[in-house]
Amino acid sequence: MMKYFFAFCFALTINNGFAQPAVAVTIDATNAQTTISRHIYGHFAEHLGRCVYDGFWVADTLNVPKKDRIRLDIVEALKKIQVPNLRWPGGCFADEYHWRDGIGQRKQRPQMVNTNWGGVSEDNSFGTHEFLELCKLINCEPYIAGNVGSGTVEEMAKWVEYLNSDAKSTMTVLRGENGQQQPWRVKYWGVGNESWGCGGNMTPDYYADLYKRYATYARDYPGSQLYRIASGANSSDYNWTEVLMKKAARHMWGLTLHHYTVPTGNWGKKGSATAFSEAEYFNTMKNCLYMEELVSRHSTIMDQYDPSRRVALVVDEWGVWTDVEPGTNPGFLYQQNSLRDALIAGTTLNIFNNHSERVRMANLAQTINVLQSLILTKGNQLLLTPTYHVFELYKVHQDAKKLPVNFSSPDYLVEGKKLPAVNISASKDSTGNTHITLVNIDATKTITLRINLPATTWTTVQGRILTAPALTDVNTFENPGKVIIQKFSAAKKEGNELVVVLPAKSVVALQVR
Ligand code: AHR
Repeated sequence: MMKYFFAFCFALTINNGFAQPAVAVTIDATNAQTTISRHIYGHFAEHLGRCVYDGFWVADTLNVPKKDRIRLDIVEALKKIQVPNLRWPGGCFADEYHWRDGIGQRKQRPQMVNTNWGGVSEDNSFGTHEFLELCKLINCEPYIAGNVGSGTVEEMAKWVEYLNSDAKSTMTVLRGENGQQQPWRVKYWGVGNESWGCGGNMTPDYYADLYKRYATYARDYPGSQLYRIASGANSSDYNWTEVLMKKAARHMWGLTLHHYTVPTGNWGKKGSATAFSEAEYFNTMKNCLYMEELVSRHSTIMDQYDPSRRVALVVDEWGVWTDVEPGTNPGFLYQQNSLRDALIAGTTLNIFNNHSERVRMANLAQTINVLQSLILTKGNQLLLTPTYHVFELYKVHQDAKKLPVNFSSPDYLVEGKKLPAVNISASKDSTGNTHITLVNIDATKTITLRINLPATTWTTVQGRILTAPALTDVNTFENPGKVIIQKFSAAKKEGNELVVVLPAKSVVALQVR
């Protein structure tokens, strides 16, 4: 009897004076078959605020390393996290963008008003050639969103021809005259954006028919098969997914889903990026965890029409959307990025990894200076946000085999409401190493996990952690190193088990080999 009593006590950890039972987790490598597509780790750059202009693309006079006007310190930072794809030019902007305005001599390019984002002038100096040069420098795949809302079928067809054909034609000769002889062979092709809203306020039936028309004439050229992506649902609009799958599934490679985490849940007053209570933080995480339900329910609908899961669910806009930083242009969507953002990123990426049978592409909104950014800039200064560091921790999952994770999470309790405190995903890479990413969203409680790894032979574990004293902690231009990755030593082998003491409000990445 005493033996069992001691074993029980051993399985408890002391937490804020209270004993918490350790959480039993199983990560079984027996039948690991699904690949976590690297494209889940994609990003998004719209002509919005300071993402493209004064972000990627800067003034000739700015004193930073540049190729043409592309900022190379940004390129280097993005290469480090292995950005697999970049979505461009929008967003809402895509459905007002006319690609021929963005080619040829820059001085002669027409100007337009960016009606969606602040009504500012767009000089079209960053266009097709500049974007594809940027992707080449980052070493990522371009994902271009074509204009359905205000563009024609012919305009989209000609853009694809300009990009991908190697036969002689007016379009390909023009491409050569503009400096690019060889086709770029762009693969990922969005047919409109948010066609239920800023992309034309359409019904799903109308868009499904239009989608097929535009997608038909966006041709496959020899050696350049397009991966056509249809504009999908807004959050829980399950009917949109149903109609698109019923009417057009066989014409698409992917169908999108957009979902933003709004801290208060109120688009009129979204909440500050840097000043929030624990109750608001709890609400934010609830809205973030809703992605699990969204992905599951949209996938279930897709399963009915596509049981072999050929069509990808592409979550090509996600992230936290707060009020803008005080004093900044409300149309520019500039927001700071705190430890809370990191917990949102870690949690969402764990959800995508765990649904990688269906979710095969995702794009965080947006890369620089807009919404949940990876990078913020001020003049020639640059800082890496807590969110950037999560992508650095998680890059090990790219193209690795998903391992199923089984456990029952303890609750994170605030004002009588509860959420699962812990979320986890795991994978095995091509060299046989196992990677486990864990998030503890609880603001105050450390949680101990005892992880069993059937079908994995291992001897050592190494860990890294992202946390900070406060949920509201941010990196600033004065102090860019407040929320950064540190070594994590509270993961140990005990017998056959991996015991992890997971601190409150942290993202941890473990490598087991
Ligand atoms: O990412 C900002 C905007 O959010 C995009 O332009 C649009 O697609 C979405 O509503």
